Amino acid sequence: MKSISLLSIVLSLIFTTTAFAESDAGFPEGWDKWPIHHSGTILGKETSIPSDLPPIVIETMKTYNWINNGKGSAYNVRLNPAQKAGHYEDAPTGVLELVDIKVLLVTEHLIGEPQYGVFTTDGKDISDAHPSLNPSICTTCHTGYGDACIAGICNK
Ligand code: HEC
Repeated sequence: MKSISLLSIVLSLIFTTTAFAESDAGFPEGWDKWPIHHSGTILGKETSIPSDLPPIVIETMKTYNWINNGKGSAYNVRLNPAQKAGHYEDAPTGVLELVDIKVLLVTEHLIGEPQYGVFTTDGKDISDAHPSLNPSICTTCHTGYGDACIAGICNK
């Protein structure tokens, strides 16, 4: 066998770890109808990260450049139109849709606090599939860069 893509390892992990799934946010039904707020790219691990990017973005690239077998992915940020920026009700709030691997990073609010989760676009919880997908890692970055994120929602 020439190479096993990381995605196929991740996918096989999905089937062995579903019972221990631990996303704090739920799967956001109807996310694909939410408007795209903006789009971007997680650079692959062979691509050098421009040093003039904000520190939080550089850290995000470093944390997730392993996805898609190290090739990175295009993404769309979609925000739930029912949520008001900065005043989040108890509901799903936003997704970062990793287009190339059909995976959603999900933020939901509960009593004002952001909750995080990771799902395939068809609803399987994969937050256990890699250490960097654990909700505690999401929290560290989404609360650790001052005003780059407001109430857990980041705007670069
Ligand atoms: C190292 C920093 C970092 C980590 C770790 C991180 N994020 Fe983010 N996240 C960001 C940045 C920066 C953006 C804004 C990207 C943009 O606007 O293009 C973002 C955007 C998002 C968005 C789109 C809504 C928003 O906040 O703009 C969601 C949803 C999201 N992240 C969820 C997660 C989840 C779930 C995890 C953990 C599995 C996670 N993030 C881990 C930095 C991080």
